[in-house]
Amino acid sequence: MTRFRELWDQLAPIGRDPDSGGYLRYAWTPAELACREWFRAQADARDMPVEEDGNGNLIAWYGSGSGPAVLTGSHFDSVPHGGAYDGPLGIVSAFLAVDRLPRPTDRPIGVVAFAEEEGARFGVPCLGSRLLTGAIEPARAAALTDRAGVTVEAALGARPTGNTGLLDRVSRYVELHIEQGRALEVPVGVGTAIWPHGRWRLDFAGEANHAGTTRMADRRDPMLTYAYTVLAANKEARLRGAHATVGRVSVEPNATNAVPALVRGWLDARAADAETLSGLVEAVHKRAVERAARDGTTVTLTEESVSPVVDFDGGLVDSCARLLDAPVLPTAAGHDAGVLSAHVPTVMLFVRNPTGVSHSPVEHATDEDCEAGIEALAAVLA
Ligand code: GLV
Ligand code: MN
Ligand code: MN
Ligand code: MN
Repeated sequence: MTRFRELWDQLAPIGRDPDSGGYLRYAWTPAELACREWFRAQADARDMPVEEDGNGNLIAWYGSGSGPAVLTGSHFDSVPHGGAYDGPLGIVSAFLAVDRLPRPTDRPIGVVAFAEEEGARFGVPCLGSRLLTGAIEPARAAALTDRAGVTVEAALGARPTGNTGLLDRVSRYVELHIEQGRALEVPVGVGTAIWPHGRWRLDFAGEANHAGTTRMADRRDPMLTYAYTVLAANKEARLRGAHATVGRVSVEPNATNAVPALVRGWLDARAADAETLSGLVEAVHKRAVERAARDGTTVTLTEESVSPVVDFDGGLVDSCARLLDAPVLPTAAGHDAGVLSAHVPTVMLFVRNPTGVSHSPVEHATDEDCEAGIEALAAVLA
């Protein structure tokens, strides 16, 4: 059995839903904490001291060089019923790439596990890296709540410390990640850019009423406004070559025999450039408001998070592509690498995904491609 398979099999059962085969690894829940225990055991086995940064991120330090450090890693947390590879592959690969480096290294290497990358629990993606870089105020992050009303501060057990200057010791970040679309046809590619993207909450408010006795003409049904808006978002995105998704919705009172009082939908929108993205969100909002006037409902749009366009470090992209003889490609998925790239030269390596599917149990990479990714990461670190 390969070392990769051995480590992969250790993580595989943690947080796996037996029915869907997908993962439920939300930040600071037992499954994700078990992954962190695994991380500490891996670090211990390599005599790598583990630093906690006060924001829920873990860093295991390798090598004793005095130069500025290189960070590499990813995240353990998943979307609901997510795949095995999105996140953990970057951490497993980081440990196995470090194993291939000569000791001593001439500069420290930090293997990092970022907290709440998906934003599946508290709504803001890349929360750990945003805190580390100062991209979100610790007070705002501390007060974010999950669906049960638990705050980040309570989940973390302390107020996040925010930017304490840790990145002043870091000169490069490289994140290996499974490719999340159909763009990569060889085992390993080099990331060039991340599309700007964000999350907006749409509150459609109407009037709860009896499904049997309320005449159709008398209803103020926010479900209609919501449904129309989902279709409009799809159309507006297609018109622009952009992406729009409503993948999360909640309904009040959520009764079969009641016209709803409130429908809440979360819009995930992404585009190749900032103008297209803001134009898309404005168009969706405008069409929602127009439809609300017809339905006797109201619409409120709230921005929950926005991630600006990211261009990874041109020098690093070129040198990695040459070193690995690998193709370059952009992505429309968000990553901690996108947040870090505003602070340190950053690059990503992608491992082929033959299914082309991600944020789903179907997401896959072959062991051979994962090994190629580890080898590529080791070469880049070296
Ligand atoms: C995270 O994976 C995202 O792109 O939403
Ligand atoms: Mn993801
Ligand atoms: Mn990811
Ligand atoms: Mn991501």
